Amino acid sequence: MATVSEWLVRLHFLLLVLLCCVSPSSCATIKFITSDPLIGLVGCHPHQIKAFTQFKNEFDARRCNHNYNGIWCNNSTGAVTKLRLRGCLTGTLKSNSSLFQFHHLRSFLIYFPLLIGSIPFLQNLTMLSVLNLYENHFSGTIPSYLLTMPSLTYLDLRGNDLTGSIKVDYSSRLQYMYLGHNHFEGKIIEPISKLINLTHLDLSYLNTSYPIDLNLFSSLKSLLHLDLSGNSISPASLRSDSNIPLTLAMVFFKHCGIKKFPNMLKKLHSMQFIDLSNNRISGKLPEWLWSLPQLGTLNVVNNSLNGFEGSSEALVNSYVRILLLESNNFEGALPNLPLSITVFSAGTNNFTGEIPLSICTRRSLTVLDLNYNNFTGPIPQCVSNFTFVNLRKNNLEGSLPDMFCVSASLRTLDVGYNKLTGKLPRSLQNCSSLKFLSVDNNNIKDMFPFWLKVLPNLQVLTLRSNKFHGSISPPNQGPLGFPELRILEISDNKFTGSLPPRYFENWKAASSSLTGKEDGSLYMVYEKNPYGLIAYTFTDHIDLRYKGLRMEQANVLTSYSAIDFSRNLLEGQIPESIGLLKSLIALNLSSNAFTGHIPESLADLKALESLDMSSNKLSGTIPNGLGSVSFLSYINVSHNQLKGEIPQGTQITGQPKSSFEGNAGLCGLPLEESCFDTSDEPQPQKEEDQDQEEEEVLNLKAVAIGCGLGVLLGWAIAHKSYHLFTRNLLRIAIFNILREVFQ
Ligand SMILES: *[C@@H]1O[C@H](CO)[C@@H](O)[C@H](O)[C@H]1NC(C)=O
Ligand SMILES: *[C@@H]1O[C@H](CO)[C@@H](O)[C@H](O)[C@H]1NC(C)=O
Ligand SMILES: *[C@@H]1O[C@H](CO)[C@@H](O)[C@H](O)[C@H]1NC(C)=O
Ligand SMILES: *[C@@H]1O[C@H](CO)[C@@H](O)[C@H](O)[C@H]1NC(C)=O
Ligand SMILES: *[C@@H]1O[C@H](CO)[C@@H](O)[C@H](O)[C@H]1NC(C)=O
Ligand SMILES: *[C@@H]1O[C@H](CO)[C@@H](O)[C@H](O)[C@H]1NC(C)=O
Ligand SMILES: *[C@@H]1O[C@H](CO)[C@@H](O)[C@H](O)[C@H]1NC(C)=O
Ligand SMILES: *[C@@H]1O[C@H](CO)[C@@H](O)[C@H](O)[C@H]1NC(C)=O
Ligand SMILES: *[C@@H]1O[C@H](CO)[C@@H](O)[C@H](O)[C@H]1NC(C)=O
Ligand SMILES: *[C@@H]1O[C@H](CO)[C@@H](O)[C@H](O)[C@H]1NC(C)=O
Ligand SMILES: *[C@@H]1O[C@H](CO)[C@@H](O)[C@H](O)[C@H]1NC(C)=O
Ligand SMILES: *[C@@H]1O[C@H](CO)[C@@H](O)[C@H](O)[C@H]1NC(C)=O
Repeated sequence: MATVSEWLVRLHFLLLVLLCCVSPSSCATIKFITSDPLIGLVGCHPHQIKAFTQFKNEFDARRCNHNYNGIWCNNSTGAVTKLRLRGCLTGTLKSNSSLFQFHHLRSFLIYFPLLIGSIPFLQNLTMLSVLNLYENHFSGTIPSYLLTMPSLTYLDLRGNDLTGSIKVDYSSRLQYMYLGHNHFEGKIIEPISKLINLTHLDLSYLNTSYPIDLNLFSSLKSLLHLDLSGNSISPASLRSDSNIPLTLAMVFFKHCGIKKFPNMLKKLHSMQFIDLSNNRISGKLPEWLWSLPQLGTLNVVNNSLNGFEGSSEALVNSYVRILLLESNNFEGALPNLPLSITVFSAGTNNFTGEIPLSICTRRSLTVLDLNYNNFTGPIPQCVSNFTFVNLRKNNLEGSLPDMFCVSASLRTLDVGYNKLTGKLPRSLQNCSSLKFLSVDNNNIKDMFPFWLKVLPNLQVLTLRSNKFHGSISPPNQGPLGFPELRILEISDNKFTGSLPPRYFENWKAASSSLTGKEDGSLYMVYEKNPYGLIAYTFTDHIDLRYKGLRMEQANVLTSYSAIDFSRNLLEGQIPESIGLLKSLIALNLSSNAFTGHIPESLADLKALESLDMSSNKLSGTIPNGLGSVSFLSYINVSHNQLKGEIPQGTQITGQPKSSFEGNAGLCGLPLEESCFDTSDEPQPQKEEDQDQEEEEVLNLKAVAIGCGLGVLLGWAIAHKSYHLFTRNLLRIAIFNILREVFQ
C-alpha cells in the first residue's frame, strides 16, 4: 500500500500545479522559498524576517529546498500573514517558539511528518483563520481553546496521533473540520455534533469500536461534505428513515463495511457526489439514484453489485457524469449510459454482449474503461473520439476502426487480449496525443508500423502475440526514430530482418534519465463542483513480465524503458547503439536468430535489471563490463554459441546455472566447468601462490551464489506488485480544492 500513498503525494503536487494554472490569482503572491528560505521576502518587515529566521532555526531545515513553501506578508504592514511549510522542518514545536510572534498570522500550514509534541499553544494568534497541521506527529488531545479561537474557521488535523475527545463551546466559528486518521476512537463524535456551523467534516478512520450512528449528525444543518470512510456505520442509520442533514452534497463512505445500498441517500436531493467504494454492497443499484437531480458522480468501485434496477433506459436522463463501477459482479448487457456521461469505468465485471452503439451519441464521453469483462462483437467506431480507451481482456472481434481523425484526442488505446483481426488502422497517424498503444494478444496481421513514428508522444507500443510479420528494419536502414518511445514489445510475432547499426539512435526519451518528468502513465480527469475539486486518475498498464524487475509498474511506464523482441525471426548482429538507451531496465531478445557478439555497450546500461538473450546464435565471449552492471538481477544467455570465462561479479555469479547452459564453450561460475581445471583445453600454468589466490576467489564466488536469494526476493516483489496493479486497475485520488486554497 505504500506505493499507493506515494502516488497520492505526487498527485497532490500535480494538483497544486494545476491550481496555479486555473487560478493564477491564488498563486500570484506566493513568495517561494527556494534553496535559501529568505529569498523573495519583499514586503515583509525586517523584524518579521528575523522572527522567521529564528523560527526556522528552531528546527532541522535541511530539507527546505523545494518550491512549494512560502511566506506571505501584508504589503502595507509588513507582517507575516501566511506561512506554508511542507515536508521540510523536523523537530519539536516548543511553547516559546518564535512562531508566536506572528500575531497577524491568518493562515498557517505545516506538513511534514516529523513535527512532534502536543498541539502548540496558538491562543495568542487571534487572527488565525486557517490552521493546517495535517500529517504531523502531534499527539495528546485537541486543546479546547482551538474551537473558540475568534477567527478560526478552518482546522485540518488529519493524519496525526491525536486522542481523546473535545469540549465544545457554542461560540465556535469552525466550518471546516478535518480530523481523519487520528486515534480518537469515536468519543469525539458527540461533541462535534454541537458544532452546528460545520459545513465540511472529515472523521475518517476514527478506529471506533462500535458502528457510528448517522443520526448524531442531524443537528449539523449546514453540513455539505461528510467523510466517514474507514469507520463502520450503523446499518440502521443507513436506512431511509434516518435523520441526516438534507443539505449533504458529498459523502465519502469508503471502507465502511456497508452491505446494503444506503437508502437514506434517496431523500438527499442536493447530493452531487457519492463515494461508496470498497464496501460489500450486494444486489442491484437502485433506480432512484438516477433521479437525484444533482448527482454528478457515483463511485461504487470494489463492491459486490450485480446489476441495475429498472429498465436499460433508466440511467439515460440522469445527470451523472462520472460513473465508476469497477470490480463488482455486474453481469449481462450494459445499460444505456446517461446522456451527460464523461467518464465510464466498468472494468473487472462480467458484462457481456456488445458494447452498445448508443455510447457513440454520448458526446462528452472521454474515458471508456471496460477491461476484464466478456464483451463480444466489434469495437464501435466512435472510440476514435475518446481520450482514454481500455478494452483489454474481452472477446471483441473484427478490426480496429479506421476513423481516427486529425482532431482526435486519443491518449490511451488498450485493446489487448481480444480476438481482433485485420490491420492496425493507418488513421492512428492522426492521433498526435497518443501515448500508449497496446494491441497485444490478438490476431492482427500486419507489417511493422513504421508509420507510427510521426506520433510525437508515443511512449508505449506493444504488439506482442499477434500475427505481425515482415522486416523490422526501417526502410532507410537508419534509426527506428520513435522520439518518445520507451517501451517497445513486439515479441511472439513473425518479424524478420536485422537491426541496422543505428537502430537505437534518436530514442530521445529512452536515452536520458527521466527523473522529475511529469507522470506520463496517468490520465487525470478533474471534476470541479462548488464543494471541491476531485481528481480521478486512470493508469496505463503493461504486463510486467520481466524477471527480476523490482520496480512498480507505474515507474516502469514513466521512468524507464524496456524492449522485448523475443520469439521472432530476427537475425544479424545486435547493434552497439543499444548502449545509448540509458534508462533501459529490461531487454529481451531471446528466441531469435541473432548472430555475432554480445555488444560491449551493454555495460553502459547502468539501469539494466533484466537481460535475456537466450536461444540465439550469439558467439564470442560475454563482455566483462556486464559483471559491473550493478542492478542486473536477471541474466540469461543460455543456448547460444558463447565461449570463454563468464565475467565475475556478484550480479552474474548469483544467477542459476541454467542461465549459461547450452553454450559449449563457457566456463566459470555459476557453471561447474572451471576455466582453470584440467580440461581438454590447454590452460596457462599457474604459479603456486596464484593458485592459492584463485581458490579464495572461488570460495568468494560460492558465497555469492548464496546471494541468489536476493534475486529471488526481487522476483517475489515484482510479482506481488504486478498482482496489486492488475487487481487495482483504477486508482482514484480525491482532493478538496478548499484544502488547497486555504493552505
Ligand atoms: C494589511 O494590513 C492592513 C492594516 O492592518 C489591513 O487594513 C489590510 O486589510 C491588510 N491587508 C491584507 C491583504 O490582509
Ligand atoms: C504586494 O507587493 C508585491 C510586490 O511589490 C506585489 O507583487 C503584490 O501584488 C502585492 N500584493 C498585494 C496584495 O497588494
Ligand atoms: C525556548 O526554551 C528553551 C528551554 O526550554 C530554550 O533552550 C530555547 O532557547 C528557547 N527558545 C527560544 C526561541 O526562546
Ligand atoms: C500571549 O499574550 C499575552 C498577552 O499579550 C502574553 O502575556 C503571553 O506571554 C502570550 N503567550 C505566548 C505563549 O506568547
Ligand atoms: C455560527 O457562525 C456565526 C458567524 O458566522 C456565529 O455568529 C455563530 O455564533 C456561530 N454559531 C455557532 C453555534 O457556532
Ligand atoms: C484501534 O483501537 C484498538 C483498541 O480499540 C487499538 O488496539 C488499536 O491500536 C487502534 N488502532 C489504531 C490504528 O489506532
Ligand atoms: C475491496 O474492498 C475490501 C473491503 O470491502 C478491501 O478489504 C479490499 O482491500 C478492497 N480491494 C482493493 C483492491 O482495494
Ligand atoms: C464472472 O463470472 C465467472 C463465472 O460465473 C466467475 O467465476 C467470476 O468470478 C466472475 N467475475 C467477476 C469479476 O464477477
Ligand atoms: C463469455 O461469453 C461467452 C459467450 O458469449 C461464453 O461462452 C464464455 O463462457 C464467457 N466467458 C466468461 C469468462 O464468462
Ligand atoms: C466523432 O465526433 C464528431 C464530432 O462530435 C462526429 O462528427 C463524428 O461522427 C464522431 N466520429 C465517430 C467515428 O463517431
Ligand atoms: C486523418 O484524418 C483525416 C480527417 O481529419 C482523414 O481525412 C485522413 O484520412 C486521416 N489520415 C489517415 C492516414 O487516415
Ligand atoms: C523473454 O521472452 C521469452 C519469450 O517471450 C520469455 O519466455 C522469457 O521469460 C522472457 N525473459 C524474461 C527475462 O522475461
